[in-house]
Amino acid sequence: MSAKLKQIEEKVLDQVKPNAEKREEIERVSEELLEAIEEHLEPSEKPRLVGSVSKGTFLNDPDIDIFVKFPISTAKDEMEKKILDLGEEILEETEERYAEHPYIHGTFQGFKADIVPCYDIEEISQMKSAVDRTPFHTDYVGENLSSEQRDEAILLKAYLKGIDAYGAEAKVWGFSGYLCELLILHYGSFENVLKNAKDWRPKKILEMVEGERSFEDPLVVIDPVDPERNVASPVSLEKFALFVLSSKMFLKEPKLRFFFPNGLEEKSAETLSEILEERSTDLVGWRFPKPDIVQDNLYPQVQRCIKKFKQHLIRKDFEILHSDYFVKDEVVLLIFEVEYAELSKIKKHRGPPVWIDNTEEFIAKYGEDAYLEGERSWVDRERKNSSVKDAMRQIMKEVDLGSAINPMLEEKGEFLADEQWIEEEKRALNKFLDKKFPWEH
Ligand code: UTP
Ligand code: MN
Ligand code: MN
Repeated sequence: MSAKLKQIEEKVLDQVKPNAEKREEIERVSEELLEAIEEHLEPSEKPRLVGSVSKGTFLNDPDIDIFVKFPISTAKDEMEKKILDLGEEILEETEERYAEHPYIHGTFQGFKADIVPCYDIEEISQMKSAVDRTPFHTDYVGENLSSEQRDEAILLKAYLKGIDAYGAEAKVWGFSGYLCELLILHYGSFENVLKNAKDWRPKKILEMVEGERSFEDPLVVIDPVDPERNVASPVSLEKFALFVLSSKMFLKEPKLRFFFPNGLEEKSAETLSEILEERSTDLVGWRFPKPDIVQDNLYPQVQRCIKKFKQHLIRKDFEILHSDYFVKDEVVLLIFEVEYAELSKIKKHRGPPVWIDNTEEFIAKYGEDAYLEGERSWVDRERKNSSVKDAMRQIMKEVDLGSAINPMLEEKGEFLADEQWIEEEKRALNKFLDKKFPWEH
């Protein structure tokens, strides 16, 4: 390893890896949380510490993950209710979250904590819900990851956080903690993961054990505890590409900046206006009240909504340069940057070549508006929607844009007026216009 890289790794660990004192504190608090939970449980219901705290792969500011294993005969809603109720009593700042089923997030003695219900199964084949795998993951990593490799996993997590590719949730579509640990197990070290990743191509398969191979995902990492599952299935093509590209660039010139990017610099209202002026594109913002559903359902819906808007706008001849969405506390903002907000009123509509039978039908339909050009009949027809805003309103009326979004979108939404961009949505605008790589900030 180059001296430079070694120095960077040391500096990163210095900053992100909790020291011995902090570790002891987390262990103590985890113990106390387990005990507090146990008081609310029957003897057949067993709480267990899982996740990065139990595996020693946590960074500063970790969450304590506790899974409560219920007998297989327990009804699903019964165990969910039990966990939500007990969470409300034990944790503070609670928030119901959702994986395959609901669980509770909150804080305990100042630490973030997740309490998740699952089934107490002996082997994977008895699995009833995806979270039932987690205790097996914990065992696997605990048994296989050496203590030096724990630091390597911490480095990889910190790196992925820096390039905004850490986390399997729909907000990120990136690499989960467990996936990081498996990559370290497979390649041995942080440096070696990157050395390999720089040459990855989509449909990269890592078979740590033999398993199902027919996955269509950009990255396939067969789960050693369940060979039918791809641990990397949440990784989107773009995050996969970002990781590959960043690996090339980091290895060429390792920099702390990859781990600790500066974040977006604030631009003044004047600068932003100038940028918009120079691009001479048209920006359309549609803002609507945030539907009251959990994050992991909201993000995919908003993503699908944007995708559908784009498809339909393209069909209506609008050239979309960029689009993005911003989910805030109270509202969701959709942004589209188009080449032109106004198209011509008419559009040239092509008819058949004159030697084809239905030429006469075409001419009959359009009457004296039909004309000949080359071998075909044509007509200049008025567009249904010549402005992008009309087109968007039309799409909102006609298209299903998501069950939770539909009721909020049209009636309760609004287009942003020119001055509102700077006055109310400056941060979103700034982010929208910034295309730099995270490590270049
Ligand atoms: P975490 O997201 O807390 O990951 O999930 P982690 O490995 O502890 O990593 P960091 O350090 O906190 O980022 C803890 C465990 O819970 C399971 C995962 O299998 C993971 O090992 N899990 C998490 C789910 O099953 N479903 C979820 O939605 C989230
Ligand atoms: Mn965790
Ligand atoms: Mn967690």
